[in-house]
Amino acid sequence: MAVAVDIGIAEKERKKIADGLSHLLADTYTLYLKTHNYHWNVEGPMFQTLHTMFELQYTELALAVDLIAERIRALGHYAPGSYAQYAKLSSIKEVTGVPGAQDMIKDLVKGNEAVSKTARALFPVVDKSSDEPTADLLTQRMQIHEKTAWMLRSLLEKK
Ligand SMILES: [Fe+2]
Repeated sequence: MAVAVDIGIAEKERKKIADGLSHLLADTYTLYLKTHNYHWNVEGPMFQTLHTMFELQYTELALAVDLIAERIRALGHYAPGSYAQYAKLSSIKEVTGVPGAQDMIKDLVKGNEAVSKTARALFPVVDKSSDEPTADLLTQRMQIHEKTAWMLRSLLEKK
């Protein structure tokens, strides 16, 4: 028989946080797949730079999904882990076909910003429940996504 979670956060709050983290997980997984896709399919004079940069990014994202999913489990809920669930939960749109290198960069800027917004939207709920471990995770995720968005933005020409 399962033992109830008793960590000082009420079930209603744990459910709310787990739901928010499920959105963050879906966003992160979708961005992971998109970044890996672009690593494979990018073309043009920036190939080497982008191929390598995207690899660093998808490798980091692959580790991040594990931390997010395991935080959901620690809060007493199941982590979504299928493409059908992710398509429903994610705020990031998939692309059809293979975009040009500049469009890939712009799309990844948007994707990283989207994940950061999902994390930030959950922060007040987490803060109210004194869920410091989740707050710490969200802070780290926002920091990484905002830094990645800046680095990607810096590859684009000044307007
Ligand atoms: Fe590769």
